Amino acid sequence: MGEAHDQVGARKVVVLIGLMGSGKSSVGRRLAHALGIGFYDTDELVATATKKSVRELFGEGEATFRGHERTALLGALDAATKGSGVIATGGGVITREDNRDDIRRRATDIVWLDADLEELVSRTSNGTHRPLLDGGARGKLEEMQRERSDLYESLATIRVATKGQSLSAITEFLQSRIGTAGR
Ligand code: S3P
Repeated sequence: MGEAHDQVGARKVVVLIGLMGSGKSSVGRRLAHALGIGFYDTDELVATATKKSVRELFGEGEATFRGHERTALLGALDAATKGSGVIATGGGVITREDNRDDIRRRATDIVWLDADLEELVSRTSNGTHRPLLDGGARGKLEEMQRERSDLYESLATIRVATKGQSLSAITEFLQSRIGTAGR
């Protein structure tokens, strides 16, 4: 597991990482609410900034999307660092080394929601907004799990095996691990 700084008193910058469908946005929103701090979601920030959907941006090439995603990540880290915040990242944010470096440098806690394949397949079956899953979600998710697990693991300071756990149970566990955040 990697190390993140946890230096400035009670200030918290919590970054959630993990594959599509692992629950980052749902858990992140609940955790931020429970801690009484801001919530940032890189996919939402990209959509707001570009007024385009993830699918439209991928239509312009994955690099275009990743560029906007990097800008969103840096904006979220800046905003969260001013007080405290929880940031839900898109599953592929960790594929860029510069993103990994910035997360490592600036997050106080990096949480990997480590879900099993069945969970990921079932949680991503409800929409068509994830272009990387076109042509067979199970196969694509399995491939991404193989390709990305080492990256998630190397970055994480807290790993949560989410299998069989409710969103509330995961949130409560994280709340107790991360503690009371300053504002
Ligand atoms: C992606 C994950 C998605 C979104 C895009 C690419 C990925 O976010 O950013 O479809 O590469 O894993 P979620 O993990 O929030 O679904």
